[in-house]
Amino acid sequence: MRENQNKGVKGEMIGVLDFGSQYTKLIARRIRELGVYSEIFPWDISVEELSKRPMEGIILSGGPASTLDPGAPAPDSKIFEMGIPTLGICYGMQIIAKMLGGRVISGKEREYGRTEIKILANSPIFKGLPERSFVWMSHGDSVSDPPPGFRITAESEKTKIAAMEDENKKIYCLQFHPEVIHTDYGMKILENFITEICKAPRNWNMESFLKRISSEIAEKVKGERVLCALSGGVDSTVAATLVKEIIGDRLIAVFVNNGLLREGEPEEVRSFFEERGFNLIYIDASERFLEKLKGVTDPEEKRRIIGHQFISVFDEVASKQGKVRFLLQGTLYPDVIESGSGGKGAAKIKSHHNVGGLPEKLSFELLEPLRELFKDEVRKLGKLLNIPEKILKRHPFPGPGLAVRILGEITKDRLRILRKADKIVQEEFLQSTWYDKVWQAFAVLLPIRSVGVMGDERSYGYSIAIRVVSSEDGMTADWVKLPYELLEKISNRITREVEGVNRVVYDITSKPPATIEWE
Ligand code: XMP
Repeated sequence: MRENQNKGVKGEMIGVLDFGSQYTKLIARRIRELGVYSEIFPWDISVEELSKRPMEGIILSGGPASTLDPGAPAPDSKIFEMGIPTLGICYGMQIIAKMLGGRVISGKEREYGRTEIKILANSPIFKGLPERSFVWMSHGDSVSDPPPGFRITAESEKTKIAAMEDENKKIYCLQFHPEVIHTDYGMKILENFITEICKAPRNWNMESFLKRISSEIAEKVKGERVLCALSGGVDSTVAATLVKEIIGDRLIAVFVNNGLLREGEPEEVRSFFEERGFNLIYIDASERFLEKLKGVTDPEEKRRIIGHQFISVFDEVASKQGKVRFLLQGTLYPDVIESGSGGKGAAKIKSHHNVGGLPEKLSFELLEPLRELFKDEVRKLGKLLNIPEKILKRHPFPGPGLAVRILGEITKDRLRILRKADKIVQEEFLQSTWYDKVWQAFAVLLPIRSVGVMGDERSYGYSIAIRVVSSEDGMTADWVKLPYELLEKISNRITREVEGVNRVVYDITSKPPATIEWE
């Protein structure tokens, strides 16, 4: 079990058992949006472990397995005897059907996409819904016979049992996904589950979180000092601001310029924190990083070097501070879930080198006040702490910075080119209102040269790729269909204003199969 498993304000929560669906995190986020704390647990958690937590309801998520396969993941069967309202979604519904004596069959064809369902019975889960509405289906198997005691509450053209329930046992099942926006009344269904069925008090919000976490931090830190590494990103800014409000000068903030930041970034970050009265240590380590990166072209090697350099710079600063007990980190809930469940054969796609590598080497106690929160919750918290929108809405920027956006070797000249190109992208996005509509928009420098003509001269310059994606959490992403006018403007400006570039291309790949960053 993970530590720090806290509670809504009074401890109420909805537990989500994760059967591996890409939507599991979304379910927990939706429940929180509705004002009830929600946490994700591995599907095989025992009832003994689960009952240690004050659970108002349990949701079994969807998942990629088939209940018809031997060894299909199944929850502890005692879960159905806990007397806690349960909602099964997709695979969650099928495994409930199978375990409680119903029948699941394999479908001839997959039912995928928006589908109309018809509600057949008066059920609290469908309270306030019209008889017919559209939902998001994504399944091959389906339930052909409900378990004894269950009644069918909705159907679709292809699926005889689109929803079923046992009101006595308070078990509700949906073949479709209420958590995705393509289900018209999805939020209403989840709301019905938490209010009509679980009767969970809706007291999870950032005001109450702020109150609770502030007193927890004060109690934990007492008179001790806390060190933190700032990146200028949303998470470390919110974490540092939160802790600074509570312990003032006893927070020592370190900002390392690794030479891989965007144009103007070191100055902006510095002045922001200095204006807010932070006890800030600024270290310009650019030369040192660039020296170590000389001649390195392999992406993983770049990340490794940057990670190590960061640790060693930070280590040097820390050792000059005398005794500091805590290290503050802006770890978020998705990182906690991933490190908790990524073990089982999860492939390493990229090593994310943030301050994450620090504690192994340095002997700090960790302070991670945001580890219960999703990104959108961190932004809300930031707002309560009066952090300007401009910072809270910032696109994510990777720890290894521009190093993973310059393919091949990193040189000062390539950094100059990429900074200029990237600045143009940022400016055009901010100006055109597209900035807030996308997850990330940035430039990538391709080290290949191609022929162009400028005036009467032949040119032989680099290419810049523009990468713009929309995403919920960075795990999957779609490339964004930008208006041609915006692309044209960016392309014109880059080729005109950035010396050394004569070609601009647009990346039209989603994730998967590509990743968001190019390295
Ligand atoms: P990828 O490229 O893996 O990126 O699809 C997913 C999201 O993570 C960001 N990213 C990083 N963030 N340190 C970070 O803090 C890293 O090393 C790193 N690599 C990628 C990326 O910008 C995207 O939002």
